[in-house]
Amino acid sequence: MLRPYLALGFVVPCVLVLTGACGGGSSAGPSKSGPLDGDGGGVGTAGPVGLPCDVDKVLAQHCRDCHASPPQFGAPMPLATWEDLDAPSRSDPERKVRDFVAARVSDDGKPMPPPPNARPTAAEQKTIADWVAAGAPRGPDTCDNPTDRPPPKGLSCTPDLSLEPEAAWEMPEDAGDEYVCWGVDLVKEQATHITAFAPVIDNTEITHHIVLYEAPSAYSRTPKPCGAGTSLSWRMVLGWAPGVEPLELPPEVGFPVSTNPAKPTHYVVQMHYSNPSKQKGKKDKSRIDLCTSAPRKHEADVMAFGSQSFEIPAAPPAGGQFSIDCALTVPAAFAGLHFFAAMPHMHQIGVAMSTTLTPKDGGPEVDLGTMTAFDFNTQAWLPVNATAKAGDVIRTMCSWTNTTGSPVRFGEKTEDEMCYSFTMYYPRVKSSLWSWAAPAAGPPIGATCN
Ligand code: HEC
Repeated sequence: MLRPYLALGFVVPCVLVLTGACGGGSSAGPSKSGPLDGDGGGVGTAGPVGLPCDVDKVLAQHCRDCHASPPQFGAPMPLATWEDLDAPSRSDPERKVRDFVAARVSDDGKPMPPPPNARPTAAEQKTIADWVAAGAPRGPDTCDNPTDRPPPKGLSCTPDLSLEPEAAWEMPEDAGDEYVCWGVDLVKEQATHITAFAPVIDNTEITHHIVLYEAPSAYSRTPKPCGAGTSLSWRMVLGWAPGVEPLELPPEVGFPVSTNPAKPTHYVVQMHYSNPSKQKGKKDKSRIDLCTSAPRKHEADVMAFGSQSFEIPAAPPAGGQFSIDCALTVPAAFAGLHFFAAMPHMHQIGVAMSTTLTPKDGGPEVDLGTMTAFDFNTQAWLPVNATAKAGDVIRTMCSWTNTTGSPVRFGEKTEDEMCYSFTMYYPRVKSSLWSWAAPAAGPPIGATCN
């Protein structure tokens, strides 16, 4: 029988306390639903809306999954009624919310909605801009615009395991933002592959984004503040932000779970909570549901392209962006590796990142993960599809706008920066000298950067 158990950090091996408390999702009951457990998205509005119906329609379709009443996923304010748009804005009380709405819908650097959500079309952006420019005339009390988008895509498999924290996290009253980490160790008695990862959001008001890492050692299962940084030994497996679909691996591949109780697979979940209006008593116990199966044909693995050695000058050229451009010529040992998902990862001053594969034989360039408007708050995995041949060139570009006033270097702290394009691939590179970070660690294996 396949008996999942979660070992609790360093402390008590869970097998001793198999009373249900650590049965891997048995209490919460992994659901077949999408990432939103509750009624997240499309919270209705009571009372008159007062917006022209074409304006209301754009807000309903593109904004109210987050800017609802109450706001969801850390959005700072509702965009439900004429009064909401007439209110003073949070970032500059001298200006009205609607001025920022008009600005952010057409801001390519900091767009609303945040990626990966689709932007309003040019015509929709113009509808908003024209209405604001015309002095924001009132509309009818009601419009018949649905506030719900289609529900997020569910999983095609049924989750049978879950990464869950030991306890719920409660936002301290005075914290607007908090990064909280907890870890889960996985061991299975029989060879098992994880085939899908599906975040299930418990509190949609404060959960802003989630990053899942695989770590070389156990991490406490009790949620604790951990900062926005990333331990250098953690390897990103999944990124989630509102709008990101669950990750299902291609049918030929899965992530192996350890079968050795002395050496479990260690996961760390880093939660970003946002409580802009600092409401009291907001708690969350979000989890990540997993589907597992008997081992598939290939073992998935993650490697990182990019760079570990760069210095972003305090004042980038002409006060603008500073970029690095790293090229890695695929060695014979990587020939045949198939890449299927990418997670571009920088820290807070990152603005754009892209990785491409240029075939040696002159075929078209293949995208290995591009975020033209990188936003630390909306890290997400992106589907990619490429197979490497010896001699192909994998190029990673990272751009930052240094607003800190000091030089910023590669590192794990929140104030440091990263340029890692975490990339899922198979089959695993099997060499005792290999490390997931090798492609970003510079020559001889890694990229050379300019
Ligand atoms: C996926 C959730 C989400 C969606 C969808 C979304 N927003 Fe936001 N919005 C946020 C978050 C989180 C913030 C705070 C961080 C920031 O400013 O980037 C924000 C901030 C804003 C701000 C800045 C407020 C201020 O005072 O600085 C405006 C304006 C805004 N959103 C407008 C919109 C509009 C208009 C849409 C639809 C076209 C939209 N948003 C869709 C999550 C969302």
